[in-house]
Amino acid sequence: MAELDYRSCFGAGEDVEVQKRMLTVPKIETLDDLIRELRSAFSTDHVNVERVQDLMAAYKSNPREWLKYAQFDRHRYTRNLVDQGNGKYNLMLLAWAEGQGSSIHDHADSHCFMKVLDGKLCEIRFAWPSESSEEEEQEMNIIKETHLVTNDVTYMNDSLGLHRMENPSHTQTAVSLHLYCPPFESVLLFDQRTGHKTRGKVTFWSKYGVRTPFGAISAKLDAEDYENN
Ligand SMILES: [Fe+2]
Repeated sequence: MAELDYRSCFGAGEDVEVQKRMLTVPKIETLDDLIRELRSAFSTDHVNVERVQDLMAAYKSNPREWLKYAQFDRHRYTRNLVDQGNGKYNLMLLAWAEGQGSSIHDHADSHCFMKVLDGKLCEIRFAWPSESSEEEEQEMNIIKETHLVTNDVTYMNDSLGLHRMENPSHTQTAVSLHLYCPPFESVLLFDQRTGHKTRGKVTFWSKYGVRTPFGAISAKLDAEDYENN
């Protein structure tokens, strides 16, 4: 039998490139190492998307290191600030209880990096609605569905479309680490059935492991009153 030429396989070339890049990534053994390296990666104004993805991929999730940020709410998933990256970005941990998901949202012209720290997440990407959907109702088009498991890393920005994230499991929680650069305070939220949009404010359930005043009262608010990303 002829030997399989892996170099001709789809995606194999990319894997080699990724492996080469990973050789230049410093040792990242703890979440603190990752936070330090991310600050260094964002020390200039240029955002090297591949580099940031590689750094996030190099960290192997250790629950003992991030447990204090993983604060769950039974009503909706929570956003928990981990680091503000000298004002250049927000690094946060999102805690998804069983079956919880986000609305369809944009990313406010920011870079969005995400790494799964525990459990599984499903990302459903949508095309931007057409201009005419402002007047008429148009079901939004799904362009991609990706299933992510612990330690997977992904990247998103507005040029790639819109998305919704969800924990598809009804028996297991999920936790993910997100980096948004530059930070933003509101996003556009979309109705899948009509394509209509509204603006939603983003808030933190906790900061640096300490619950925020908003976090304490948010359980009483209706789910429509605030939204995550
Ligand atoms: Fe997002």
